[in-house]
Amino acid sequence: MSAALTDDIDDSVIRLGGHKGLEVELLPFGATIRSIRLFGQELTLNYPDPADYQTDQFYLGATAGRVANRIAKGRFELNGVAYQLDCNNGPNHLHGGVTGFNRREWQVLKQQSDSVQLYLRSADGDQGYPGAVQVWQQFRIVDKQLELSFLALSSKDTVLNLTNHCYFNLNNDKLNDGGSSVENHQLQLTATHYLPTDEHAIPTGERRAVAGTAFDFTNAKLVGPALKQQDQQLALANGFDHCFIWQDADAAELKLMAVLSSSQSGRQLEVLSTQPGLQLYTGNFLAAPFAARQGICLEAQGWPDAINQLGFPGTLLKAGELYQQQIVYKFS
Ligand code: GLA
Repeated sequence: MSAALTDDIDDSVIRLGGHKGLEVELLPFGATIRSIRLFGQELTLNYPDPADYQTDQFYLGATAGRVANRIAKGRFELNGVAYQLDCNNGPNHLHGGVTGFNRREWQVLKQQSDSVQLYLRSADGDQGYPGAVQVWQQFRIVDKQLELSFLALSSKDTVLNLTNHCYFNLNNDKLNDGGSSVENHQLQLTATHYLPTDEHAIPTGERRAVAGTAFDFTNAKLVGPALKQQDQQLALANGFDHCFIWQDADAAELKLMAVLSSSQSGRQLEVLSTQPGLQLYTGNFLAAPFAARQGICLEAQGWPDAINQLGFPGTLLKAGELYQQQIVYKFS
């Protein structure tokens, strides 16, 4: 699996699928999902012009890394060495720093009608992280599902936590008032626990049961009313911006994490992943050209700030060890 063995190909918008109703557009910039359409209906938020992704502030459709989500104060210690990363989100490091994987031009290694493999090499010291990291990300359409497979290798022990940052909106009409908000979406999350955070969105270390709280999505329910519930955690984050956790799941197995649907369009999305967590983000700070709550992110990932939190499943990647994760978006 060497980049040198494969040919570079066209760098423009990558179009996959189409013949079974699911069409996907990707950009090498940020390994970004630019569009997902099912039978012609757009299911994600996007910019009309690919150039707009260069100035995007919302991680729209992008691949987040090296470490998606936050690292408290951008600090961690590994093998007795203290590392200081950029703090690009208040006092914390977010989504890999100022020039994270979302702002990098990925190389197109191999493209077919239903799949593409993208590649990125991140140098030792990139954004302050140890180790030269190579990442291979494959996007593949199988029937009505889009599969994302992440493989990575590092030259030194490091931390890695990759995810995709698509904003979904399954409504037919995303521009008029009734259709624009995801508050009318039904959401089910199979997690029984989540990670409460401090005022800077860093987990406190507690694993809190969702039962009896606004965070209980074990049975499908509407997003809007849940957002309006009285809850100190919702107030802190201005909505949902929390990691739901699957504590006992087998790391190698795909599990169903989330089911999102819109009764307005009848469309449904299932999110499956090998990851141990899923950050639910209700677009709390989305702004022009979008609006708050116009999209919902279901980011399957490792637990935030895991490198600094005792007992959290690790985001450590040992030198020469293969990082392997999968995310599946299944539409109907
Ligand atoms: C993640 C974070 C949010 C926000 C978005 C990007 O979902 O958890 O707080 O930073 O990314 O806007």
